[in-house]
Amino acid sequence: MDKRLTIAIDGYSSSGKSTFAKEIAKELGYIYIDSGAMYRAATLYFIRKGLVTRDMADIQGIADAMKEISIEFAYNQDSGEYETYLNSENVEKEIRGPDVSAHVSAISKISEVRTQLVELQKQTGTDRGIVMDGRDIGTTVFPDADLKIFMTASADIRAKRRYDELKSKGFDASLEEIRNNIIARDITDENRDISPLRRADDAVVLDNSRMTIAGQMEWVRKLIEEKLNDS
Ligand code: DC
Repeated sequence: MDKRLTIAIDGYSSSGKSTFAKEIAKELGYIYIDSGAMYRAATLYFIRKGLVTRDMADIQGIADAMKEISIEFAYNQDSGEYETYLNSENVEKEIRGPDVSAHVSAISKISEVRTQLVELQKQTGTDRGIVMDGRDIGTTVFPDADLKIFMTASADIRAKRRYDELKSKGFDASLEEIRNNIIARDITDENRDISPLRRADDAVVLDNSRMTIAGQMEWVRKLIEEKLNDS
């Protein structure tokens, strides 16, 4: 049987991880899993339950509520994309909105949340032929991944990308607010105690500030080729 790889893509918010990861998965015929969507779906559930408060005091309530959550992805023929389901409800649009974005970093610091979601992510990767993006995929979820990429781009460029994405989805947005949210999320993601955002020692860095998706694909094809030819 053909060799199939596990590819881990980590990096900063709005660094273009998901566009890149989806494109790689499409080209190789692999599964794509957006681990950030899992943290977003869990956050939405807690917001709806009134568990997201200024001081995030009810950690036990959040830990208990984790047991009520099931998260799945299903392919939408019309959009050609995988969409996120929370307890069988399609929440793809809602989890990308500003409310969830404002609280997801705080939720993803909670160990009970991470343990359960990391376990779910590991299970989806038991068969190779997967591209997963997130913050701790190369360090925690798949430390033995065949190929690890760590993505970055300047804060201004990331803010502009996120702004365009939100506008195209019909959300009202301010570029300044988005830039501040991105910088705040970088700080929270890099400084949390459990699985902070950091480059795995064996990850290759990709700064795509001035690269097109076609340029990024050209760059990654060489790496994939090498890994597929490794015995
Ligand atoms: O990739 P994203 O912006 O959709 O991720 C949303 C948040 O989830 C981000 O602020 C950090 C968190 N996250 C995480 O802690 N670990 C992951 N593997 C993926 C996302």
